[in-house]
Amino acid sequence: MIVEWIRHRLTPAPRALRDMGYLRELIAIDARRRRHRRAWAPHLRAAQSMILDCAAHLDRWDQVVVVGAAQTADVPLDLLALLFRRVVLVDLMFLPAVRIAAMRMAPVALEPCDVTGVVEAVRTLPRGAPLPAPRPAIPDMAHADLVISCNVLSQLPLLPCRWLERRHGLDPVALEPFRRRLIADHLRVLSAAPCPVCLITDTERQVVVAGQPVEAVDLLHGIDPDVEGDAWWWAIAPRPEEAWTHDVRHRVIAGWLRGFSTPDDDASVADLGPERRPVDGRSHGGG
Ligand SMILES: C[S@@+](CC[C@H](N)C(=O)[O-])C[C@H]1O[C@@H](n2cnc3c(N)ncnc32)[C@H](O)[C@@H]1O
Repeated sequence: MIVEWIRHRLTPAPRALRDMGYLRELIAIDARRRRHRRAWAPHLRAAQSMILDCAAHLDRWDQVVVVGAAQTADVPLDLLALLFRRVVLVDLMFLPAVRIAAMRMAPVALEPCDVTGVVEAVRTLPRGAPLPAPRPAIPDMAHADLVISCNVLSQLPLLPCRWLERRHGLDPVALEPFRRRLIADHLRVLSAAPCPVCLITDTERQVVVAGQPVEAVDLLHGIDPDVEGDAWWWAIAPRPEEAWTHDVRHRVIAGWLRGFSTPDDDASVADLGPERRPVDGRSHGGG
């Protein structure tokens, strides 16, 4: 904890992202990965091999864009840098270790970017004002041969909604449509990519006692990505990380994004107009 606090104080980061808790989260995830190196290894290996498998099915290797790259723990960065002429890592910010790695590898470029377009708008939202409209975007996608969304999808609503709950006193239940919209918008942008898309995301959190799930939470809030590939359990918080009495595991799906569906009764998604309708069964190369 004390090490995390010192890292938080010493790591350079934009003030806004620090205020919103993004730097704290990034450092906490990194620390948890180190604490549970063995438990996390199968998940990290599976994610890396899915990325390589997708890359191996392409017929051009000019540019790959990795969204949610963060510490690149689940990204086979060395191999991508050998395979592709340009590797674009997209995240809100990058810790020094990744900045140094990128300086050492000529093909690797860092693109700090908010892929939802709401982070700054939420941070500066006046009290009582309506929620900002998302402006989702992924940089460099137009010239990509492969786009990878890597363990970022379920994270997109977390800190904006936590901010709105704590600073604006908004009811978590009332924020549910906003959460869904941020998730659906990312899938919508991915589905519009001019190239194959590899989606890796956790979908469900389970609390496990004595080997049996006793509680489950849908991390995608009813949004259901159609992914052709693989699925596994990620032992994200083996005891006593959260409690002595239980483990926490996440279901992860990974592979080619084929489309996605949203709950039928979700007005926030249904009302977006024709150009923003959910994409169904769209097929993108590879696989
Ligand atoms: C669970 S981590 C991803 C792990 C990462 N693939 C790794 O191996 O280190 C989720 C990442 O999503 C990023 N993220 C969250 N919201 C984002 C946003 N609006 N735009 C871009 N990145 C975002 C966070 O900064 C964080 O690095």
